[in-house]
Amino acid sequence: MYSSIMEASPLLKVSDMAENLVGSEIIKLAGEVKQKIAAGEKIYNYTIGDFDPEIFPIPKELTEEIIKAYQAGHTNYPAANGMEELRKSVSRYLHTRGGVEYNESQILISGGARPLIYAIYQTIIDEGDTVVFPTPSWNNNHYCHITGAKQVKIEGSPDNNFMPTAKDIKPYIAEAKIIALCSPLNPTGTTFSEKGLEEICDLILEENKKRGEQKKPVYLLFDQIYWQLTHSLTIHVDPVSLRPRMKNYTIYVDGISKAFAATGVRVGWAFGPQKVINKMRSICSHLGAWSPKAEQIACANYLMNDHAVDNYLVDIKSKINQRLNAFHEGFNNLKSLGYRVSAIAPQAAMYLTVKISIQGSTTPDGNKLTTAEAVTKYLLNDAKIALVPFYAFGASKKSSWYRLSVGTVKIEDIPGFFGNLRASLDRLT
Ligand SMILES: Cc1ncc(COP(=O)(O)O)c(C=O)c1O
Repeated sequence: MYSSIMEASPLLKVSDMAENLVGSEIIKLAGEVKQKIAAGEKIYNYTIGDFDPEIFPIPKELTEEIIKAYQAGHTNYPAANGMEELRKSVSRYLHTRGGVEYNESQILISGGARPLIYAIYQTIIDEGDTVVFPTPSWNNNHYCHITGAKQVKIEGSPDNNFMPTAKDIKPYIAEAKIIALCSPLNPTGTTFSEKGLEEICDLILEENKKRGEQKKPVYLLFDQIYWQLTHSLTIHVDPVSLRPRMKNYTIYVDGISKAFAATGVRVGWAFGPQKVINKMRSICSHLGAWSPKAEQIACANYLMNDHAVDNYLVDIKSKINQRLNAFHEGFNNLKSLGYRVSAIAPQAAMYLTVKISIQGSTTPDGNKLTTAEAVTKYLLNDAKIALVPFYAFGASKKSSWYRLSVGTVKIEDIPGFFGNLRASLDRLT
């Protein structure tokens, strides 16, 4: 009886929004990879934007603080906008490390960055409002769908390291209510240049001057969750530091998930104009999207420990950088041997942007690789390599670009990865 009810459930009507939610391509791919691993295959699975805690554990001082906070009984509801000590600690962290000035009332804490992005969309967007975002980028299409926003996608180009430009955005600025940007960008691991971001800020300021105070301005959602993970000479730039007047329109998204490899700890923060932050607080509060109280207290104490934070960031960046450089070099070597692959020099985050231009080739069993999907499958089945194609981030299905995430990479696996890739490329005609 119970099972027949379960079987009938796909026919139940739900909202159009829920009915038409698109499943994540990354999760679909991850499912296929999981099956292969469960069947005993060795897969070089570099698909997930997460860290293997054995390679990238969270800071030990943070672990200790979390244990202490639970032992001290911090297990009841936290304040709706986040614990005051954490908001003060984040304010100091942003000031000392990012040079931006936000007081504790302008900061909202949540259970990671996701609820904050959702709350920004819900705070700004009325049905049919336009959101402009680059492709590839992470999940803006889903937040637009949930809030009924009109999506304007700006297709990135390797010439700009896939970062959108003011020129790309200009045709849509008059209709835009949110420009959703991310730097360092997931999936590319690339960043805005100072000039590139300044030009976008100027475009937004000019547009908002035209709109005046009666109309809803165009807001900038600026997701900088990877900003601490810059490599070599890359310097993170942000809108308000470049153009102080952007403070009226910029809502930042940030947190500990990536900088401290703490994706499962769930502490994120947004900061921006007071009114927007207050509305976001109400939305997050109705969702109950708080970060657990003990984690908040722990994070507040940890972020005050400058010595521990400094040491941790040096260590995580060097481990990520070592892996990104090894892959970058490996792809360059293959390229110099005439293989149709390349990679963009890593700038930030734990992602490498690689190009595998084998669409049109024929596999040993006579299949022509006509789409990026077919190439992804060939790499997985033949080379035992799992990468995320850029179409999973909204880019064209014809795109030959892939995200390689090093958060789960064991250094000793890298030669095997390239051995397999090379052998699979050799088998194509
Ligand atoms: C650009 C970007 N923003 C936000 C998030 C979500 O972060 P959190 O895990 O803190 O919700 C991710 C996660 O992959 C991300 O890549």
